[in-house]
Amino acid sequence: MKKIATLLLVLSSLIGWGQKVQNIALTPPMGWNSWNTFGTEINEQLVMDMADAFVDLGLRDAGYEYLVLDDGWMAKERDEDNNLVADPNKFPNGMKKVVDYVHARRLKFGIYNCAGNKTCAGYPGSRSFEYQDAKRYAQWGVDFLKYDWCNTENLNAKGAYETMRDALYATGRPILFSICEWGDHEPWKWGEEMGHMWRVTGDIINCWDCTVGHGTWSSLGVWPIVKLRKDIRQYAGPGHWNDFDMMEVGNGMSAAEDRVHFSLWAMLASPLIMGNDLRSAAQETIEILTNEEVIAVNQDSLGIQAYCHSDEGDMEIWAKPLANGEWALAFVNMAKKDIQINYDWNKHPVKDDLSSRALELNKNIYKIRDLYHHKDLGNTQSFLKSNIKGHDVLMLRLEPNNK
Ligand code: GLA
Repeated sequence: MKKIATLLLVLSSLIGWGQKVQNIALTPPMGWNSWNTFGTEINEQLVMDMADAFVDLGLRDAGYEYLVLDDGWMAKERDEDNNLVADPNKFPNGMKKVVDYVHARRLKFGIYNCAGNKTCAGYPGSRSFEYQDAKRYAQWGVDFLKYDWCNTENLNAKGAYETMRDALYATGRPILFSICEWGDHEPWKWGEEMGHMWRVTGDIINCWDCTVGHGTWSSLGVWPIVKLRKDIRQYAGPGHWNDFDMMEVGNGMSAAEDRVHFSLWAMLASPLIMGNDLRSAAQETIEILTNEEVIAVNQDSLGIQAYCHSDEGDMEIWAKPLANGEWALAFVNMAKKDIQINYDWNKHPVKDDLSSRALELNKNIYKIRDLYHHKDLGNTQSFLKSNIKGHDVLMLRLEPNNK
């Protein structure tokens, strides 16, 4: 029966009825990826340590689910049957062993490859081997594929991702498909039918507001990424997300800057993929990453990406409509010195044209919750008064009560 179902899937995709697996990533995916901290220095012990850390540090309970191995997991060559093989030095017991270890901790496992002939770090790419590789991943029990865009000369982006989408679908295993072509071919315009998330820029780097050139491409800090892609919010929604890249929380910025970074990713409905070494993470970092009130904003069922409500002077305000008429607001202090806010809700209408939602102050009084200090801050009938430290954020959730 299973064989017939698989055959039908293969046939349907071959004749152009391919489709992505639905009903996964209905809220932004959450997990961890090896690249930002470890590059290609990955191995079996690292995966097992990270899986244990997910459980021991409360990350799994907070919602983090996918443990993703990025570039560098493969041997330099395919085997005699053209199968991908895990690097025997890094993964002496093979890939299935680590996948099983991750699954045994009630987590999901993600892997990486590339649409080109070689991955960005020079390992075997999937071009011309898409169906064979997808089958291999499914045999190992892979739940997530990040699919990169290096060495893709003359390839059509949409077509290349479509082929891999169909190959994954043909396996019959639900595999989240993470498109990583850096925003070069506006994947937000075609990504919804191809995959579940798509990178919107080149690679992130652990800084607040810098751009670091590498010849043909640049790494971008937190703000350059946000500013570049704040206006593609209409393309995000349940099952298909703008991916603002793996997070740099815990990788060198101040705790305040990490809070801003985390808040923005939550507000932007970006996948929340950690990129730090969980084994040595500071308590402060874990507190940020496991802040369930902020995570709840990211995981809101409406899946509406925040918009920039105002950016006057040193303060930026971001607003995200939530289910049940609630709202999340993030007040970010862009300066290095403290800022005092004395905010009259009635003078600053909060209104999102895209979703036709607004703070209805004439009908409701909104109860205000401070999501980092975990305390209530009164309601919208009074001015909002607060001190926000330099490069820090006041993140709020507003809940309506009829007047
Ligand atoms: C590209 C991607 C990164 C990472 C590396 C791996 O640069 O954008 O996220 O996957 O490749 O080589």
